[in-house]
Amino acid sequence: MKHWNIGTLERQKKKFIILGIETSCDETAASLLEIKEQKDEPSFRILSKVIASQIPIHSKYGGIIPELAAREHIKKIIPVIKKSLTLNPSAIDLIAVTAGPGLITSLLVGVESAKALAYAWGKPIMPINHLQGHIAVNFINNQPQFPALGLIVSGGHTELVLIKKYNQYKKIGQTRDDAAGECFDKVAKLLGLGYPGGPAIAQWAKQPAINNQQLTIHLPRPMFNSNDYDFSFSGLKTAVLYLVHPVKSRRAGSPTAKFNRGTKTLKFKNDEEFIQNICKETQQAIIDVLIKKTLKAAQEFKVKSIILGGGVIANQELRIQFSKKIKELKIPVKLLIPFREFCPDNATMIATAAYFKYINLTERQIENLKNNWSKIKANSNLEIGVRPQFSCR
Ligand code: KG4
Ligand code: ZN
Repeated sequence: MKHWNIGTLERQKKKFIILGIETSCDETAASLLEIKEQKDEPSFRILSKVIASQIPIHSKYGGIIPELAAREHIKKIIPVIKKSLTLNPSAIDLIAVTAGPGLITSLLVGVESAKALAYAWGKPIMPINHLQGHIAVNFINNQPQFPALGLIVSGGHTELVLIKKYNQYKKIGQTRDDAAGECFDKVAKLLGLGYPGGPAIAQWAKQPAINNQQLTIHLPRPMFNSNDYDFSFSGLKTAVLYLVHPVKSRRAGSPTAKFNRGTKTLKFKNDEEFIQNICKETQQAIIDVLIKKTLKAAQEFKVKSIILGGGVIANQELRIQFSKKIKELKIPVKLLIPFREFCPDNATMIATAAYFKYINLTERQIENLKNNWSKIKANSNLEIGVRPQFSCR
C-alpha cells in the first residue's frame, strides 16, 4: 500500500520531520517525529517527546480549572518546545498544532505559539483535530485494515467513528452527556480520591477484595441496550452520588470530607470496602458499555480493525477485556491499542495525525500550507467526522 505522496523535494530527501504541539487541556506537550519512506510504507521515529503535566496544580481542586491551565501553558510552552528541539529548527518540514476540541484558553496558547514559530522560521503549519490525534497515534509503525472503527474515550469525549481511510472519518455515536473519563473523574471526586479519577479508581479496583468482600453494589449500564451508538454516563455518576450521599461533606463545605453512606441496606465493615466496591463496579459498568457498543458497531459495519484512543484507554482492565471479548466472540478484526504512554494527551499523536493528513494533500495544497499561519484558528468545539466524505450504510 502506498501512502507517500509528499512534495518532490521532500520525496528526494526521503525524510520528513514534524514538530507537534499540544495544549488542548492540561498537558503542555511538544514532540519531534521523523518519517522515512521504506518500501512504500512510512517508518516513524520519535526524536523527542516532552510533556509538562499540570496534574499537581489541578488535583487539589478535583478537576481542571481553565484559567489556571491557560496560565500554566503560557509558562511552560516555550521551555517545552525548546526541550523538544533535539535538532536545528531548520530541519523541521512541518509544524502541527492542536486546533481543537478543548479548552479555548488552553488551545490558544499552543495555536498562537505555533503560528509565531511558523512565521519566524518560515515553516508550513497545519491545524490538527485532537481526536484524530488519539486515533492516529496507533498508526506509528502499525497498519490498520480499512474500513475501521475508532473508539475515542477521554475526559471530554466518548465517540465512535467509522474510518474509511487514513483521513476519512464519520461519527456514528457519542455521549449525550458526560464523557466516560469525566464519569471516572466525578466518581473519584465523590469518593475523595483526587484528580484524575481514572487512574485512582483503576488502582482501587485492581486490589484483591478487602476482607474477601463480595461485590454487592450494582450500578446501571446506561444505554446498554439502546438501538444506536450513543452513550450516557451522567446517570452512572448520579447513581454513585445516591450511594455516597455526601450530606456531611456538603454541610462541611468540603467535597472530600467524610461521606455518609446513604443506603442502610449495604453492609460494609469499613469505608475502604465501600470505596473498593464502588470503584470496581463503576469501572466495570463503563467497560461493559464501551465494549458492547463498539463490538455491535464493528459487526454491523463489518469493519476490519477496531482502533482505540484517549486517556481512558490507558485502563488496563478495559484493554484486557476488549481483547478477550473479541477473541470470545470470534469477531474477525484487528484490534489496535496504543501503548499506555500514548493514551493521555501528547504531541506525538498530533504530529502523527499531521503526517496522515499531509500525505493526502495535492502539491497545490502543500504549497498553500507555506503561508498558512494567519488562517489558523483555535476552535474549542471542533468535531470529528460530522461532515463525512463517505456514506456508510
Ligand atoms: O485523553 P486525555 O488525557 O485528555 C482529554 O483529552 O480529555 O484523557 C483524560 C481522561 C481523564 O478523565 C482520566 O481520568 C482518564 O482519562 N484516565 C483514565 C485512566 N488514565 C486516565 N481512566 C480510566 N483508567 C485509567 N487508567
Ligand atoms: Zn485527549
